[in-house]
Amino acid sequence: MDLLPPDMVARLREALRACGYGYDGVAGLLGPTAHAALSRNETTPARRATAGGSPLATLVRLWPLQAAVRRRDADRALPGLVEGLAAAGILEVSGGEVRALVDVRPYADEGADWWMVSDLTPGLDGAPIDVAGDHVLGISPASTSLAQLTVREPVGRALDLGTGCGVQALHLARHADHVVATDVNARALAMTRLNAALNEVDVDVRAGSLFDSVQTELFDLVTTNPPFVVSPATERAAERLVYRDSGLPGDELVRRVVTTAPRHLRPGGWCQVLANWVHRRGQPWQERVVGWLEGTGCDAWVVQREKADVAEYVELWLKDAGVHGRRGYLQRYDAWLGWFDEQGIEAVGFGWLHLRRVEDREPVQHLEDWAFEVEQPLGAEVVDRFRRLDLLAVTSDDDLLAGRLRSRVDVRQETVGEPGAADPEVIVLRQQRGMRRARQVDTVEAGLVGACDGDLSVGQILDALATLLGEDPATLREQRLGVVRELVTDGFLLPW
Ligand SMILES: C[S@@+](CC[C@H](N)C(=O)[O-])C[C@H]1O[C@@H](n2cnc3c(N)ncnc32)[C@H](O)[C@@H]1O
Repeated sequence: MDLLPPDMVARLREALRACGYGYDGVAGLLGPTAHAALSRNETTPARRATAGGSPLATLVRLWPLQAAVRRRDADRALPGLVEGLAAAGILEVSGGEVRALVDVRPYADEGADWWMVSDLTPGLDGAPIDVAGDHVLGISPASTSLAQLTVREPVGRALDLGTGCGVQALHLARHADHVVATDVNARALAMTRLNAALNEVDVDVRAGSLFDSVQTELFDLVTTNPPFVVSPATERAAERLVYRDSGLPGDELVRRVVTTAPRHLRPGGWCQVLANWVHRRGQPWQERVVGWLEGTGCDAWVVQREKADVAEYVELWLKDAGVHGRRGYLQRYDAWLGWFDEQGIEAVGFGWLHLRRVEDREPVQHLEDWAFEVEQPLGAEVVDRFRRLDLLAVTSDDDLLAGRLRSRVDVRQETVGEPGAADPEVIVLRQQRGMRRARQVDTVEAGLVGACDGDLSVGQILDALATLLGEDPATLREQRLGVVRELVTDGFLLPW
């Protein structure tokens, strides 16, 4: 795909606008059923919904549905642009029909509406998946997940490492003064440049692997959804898909991102990474990942969201590459499993790493498993959690006991027990929002969280609970201080 000249970019933008080819316009034309089906890569309901032949319907057929449209319909929707788009490799004109070679579709976030150029979605309507090594992904669930996890505070300089079609860069440009986007794939860089131009956003697009193109530059925010798939060299040699295979063994790429990014962070700067990490036989995953964090000078919050056994993992990624059911599938599956076995890898974890560079104190690192549903966007919760860590770091035990904390308004108590029993067998405190954490507690903890309304201090509440339960107040205070810190860290209790 060649870059479009600036005047054509402007005319394309005008044409898309004139057709009403925005996120709401397309969703409105399709209706909820066809829209949802399309998100499952099924086009039949959307074909019915676009039978009217309006310019908007033509663009929906041309791009998200990847259907051939009549040349005269294409000319009506994209006046004077079809030849130029074909010359640039975005469309193909043949026998009175026009087809898309590259995708252009609306994408929206609260308060922003963009068009995203990327490669065509493979495997529509169950078609065999065939992707080239330099395929540029469109907006994937991983892209939106990272976008929603990202800290959206105003910042000076932001870096989108492995930009693909530039989706993270466009989001970053809404709250960063300067955005650098890097990639090793020349087609991805061309698409990011086009997306920046089409959406009238400034992005400093640079070619280079990992941090090569930013040398000694510092950033306030680094976000990356890197090519983290853990595969053997034989797999990579068979068909390296640059959007998912780094060319490095195991989870080495993620290790390099996590160990190098902190050197590019300004004090207080953030690095947010979607990643895979291997589970080696006999080693808890936390031990491996915490090793990467040593010496980074960063607070870290690492959440393992999923763990796939080796067979599930190989199946997932061979299907993603369209190898399932084709010649060579069994051999590749077997070779990948064999390599996992040789490496002592028994599972692969998927999750998020949030790092923040701290000054003047020892970094605090939490690594946890949380496989349950969360409420996105979580960017604000990430910020709040690290702020609470800052506060806890400078709060002595005496000050914590003197603190008047509040329980978060969405925390609910659930109890489980025999019908008619006087006391519950299990008490769980559950957040209804954000991470939707659940924490099994005892009567003291439940009583403490229930009584924290900003009126009494933590010490006063613990003393009252000690009296009620016939325990020694001094011992209870000492025993429960660690729990209070955990409750604050995880957002059950708020310090302000
Ligand atoms: C999973 S895609 C993510 C695309 C996009 N940022 C998103 O969030 O959807 C990973 C991207 O990293 C790029 N990439 C692969 N190896 C890289 C490397 N060594 N350095 C920088 N980028 C790389 C790929 O070309 C691809 O565009």
